Parts: sequence; C-alpha cells; structure tokens
Amino acid sequence: MRNLLTGMTVLAAVFGLAGTATAEPIKIKFSHVVADATPKGKGALEFKRLVEERLPGKVVVEVYPNSQLFGDAKEMEALLLGDVQFIAPSLSKFAKFTKKLQVFDLPFLFDDIHAIDRFQKGKIGQGLLTSMESKGYTGLGYWHNGMKQLSANKAMRVPEDAKGLKFRIQPSDVLEAQFKALSANPQKMAFAEVYQALQTGTVDGQENTWSNIYSQKFHEAQKYITETNHGVIDYMVVTNTKFWKGLPADIRSVLEKSMAEATAFSNKLALDINEADKKKIMDSGKTQIITLTKDQQAQWRKAMAPVYKQFAPDVGQDLIDAALASNKAS
Ligand code: LMR
Repeated sequence: MRNLLTGMTVLAAVFGLAGTATAEPIKIKFSHVVADATPKGKGALEFKRLVEERLPGKVVVEVYPNSQLFGDAKEMEALLLGDVQFIAPSLSKFAKFTKKLQVFDLPFLFDDIHAIDRFQKGKIGQGLLTSMESKGYTGLGYWHNGMKQLSANKAMRVPEDAKGLKFRIQPSDVLEAQFKALSANPQKMAFAEVYQALQTGTVDGQENTWSNIYSQKFHEAQKYITETNHGVIDYMVVTNTKFWKGLPADIRSVLEKSMAEATAFSNKLALDINEADKKKIMDSGKTQIITLTKDQQAQWRKAMAPVYKQFAPDVGQDLIDAALASNKAS
C-alpha cells in the first residue's frame, strides 16, 4: 500500500510537470453578490464572453453571482488570498482600505448617474482606481448600478417618518451617520441577509437601487418605497494587484480591453434596467411607491446634510468639490 502511494505521488509529480509544459488555462473566478439580471450581473457575464472568445484555451472566466461563492466581507479577503481573482463590490464597501471612496456615500451629492459617470471618468475618479494598490487591490473600472431609494413598512414622506426605524445598511460609516442624522437606527448587514431580515422584522427598512430591490424581492417584504434618489450604489471592479501584475503582458492587455468593453456595456444598460425594474415593482402591486414633492425632497436633503461636516476631513474637501462640480455637464 505504502509503495503504491509512493508510486502515485511520483506519477502525480510527473503529471504536474507535464501540466506546466502544456500550460493549463488561467482561471479567473469572478465573484459577486447580486443576481445575473442586474447591471453588475450582466457586466460580469459580458466580460466572460469577451475574454473567452478572445483567449480560447488560455483564459477561463467563471462567474459566481448571488454570494454563491463568497458574501460581502468574505469576497474582499478571498481576493487577497487568491481564492477569487475579480470582484466588484459596491463603493460603500471599501472604507477599510481607503477613506476617499466614502465620497460616493455622501447623501444627495450627485444629481444623477450621469454626474457620477463624469466624476468617475475624470482625473480624480481615475486616480482612485489605483489608490488601494498598497493594500493589494487594483481597480480596473467603475460599474454603475443606480440611485438609491428608501423602503420600509411605514410610509415615509418627510425625514421625521424615518425616526426610530431600523434600517439595514451596507458596511459604511457614512451611511451609518446618514441614518443617525434622521434619528433612525442603522444596522450594518451583508447583502445576502437582507431579504430575511426584512421578512422577519429584524429591520424595518433598507436603501437600495430599483434593480437590487426587484431582483432580491425586497419589495415583497416592504409596504412602501419612497423615491428619494438620495444616494448611489456603484461598483469598483477590483483584482488582486500581485495576480494582475504577474500576468503575461499580452494576456493582461486583452483582459484590459475586454474589461473596458464590458464596462461600457454594463454602464449603458444600468439606467434602463433600473427603470424597467421600477416599473415591474409598480406593476407587481406588492408595494406602494411614494413620489416626493420638491419641498419634501429638500427636507430629506437638509436632514442628511450634517454628514458632510463629519466626513469632509476624511474624504477631503477637494474630492467633495470635484464631485459637486460633476453635476454640471461640461
Ligand atoms: C448592497 O449591499 O446593498 C449592495 O452593495 C449590493 C450590490 O452589490 O449591489
């Protein structure tokens, strides 16, 4: 038995060497937490399609949606450990690695997704992509989802309506402060746990985009959704810096080109997917969508404004000003 095992070990070693000679394809695991039918889900699948078409037999991309492989916090660790090669967390999930990206969580900073797009494509936005390389993360692009809406089992028209309610938030101190400014109780929680938390009443409400609300069926567990557009959920596609820099240059350049195209593809779809999902939520009759008057919208903006003062030192006033300037089309 012992001899047999030794023989097998030798054989395995020989095959291992032979494997190196014939070059196994590079495997890229792309893990994310949302459904396939969302802007991020579609972007990941488009990236896979482009890469495998251009690098047949050389690179294989496996996409794992819906926290199937790793949930929020775990995917960040898994990337550093080399258990996955690509992830695309929401910009609200990077605060541990850089305070700068907190700019995206400031309430009512961006008027719409076009302003966010301008900011991300500008010099400062592009600079942020490489701001976490010392921590092992290289950003390859920004992917849009959309503007956040506020849902609960209580009708919320003015900020006072949110008082005392428990809201699920992403792991972001800015978002925590935003809800505290409303005298509400924020609770940081992984995305995969939200539906159940809403259903069981662990939390009363949450904030998210139409596409996430629809694809996770949050609207079936919430009586009201207030169309606040008070913030954004967007993503940074990140890879492991060591892995990325260690790739053969010709392979890396095809991946770069494919990422740029998948980014354009996903970003073009994002607005339409969110609009379509809003309509599906409306048509479902399972929840009531509340539209705010201009005056009510201004009240929410005012109630959340104290957050700026609190986080300006961390984020940097220059970054906030640049983000504000992106609201004006050049
Ligand atoms: C959330 O946690 O609500 C979102 O960041 C999920 C996502 O990736 O869109």
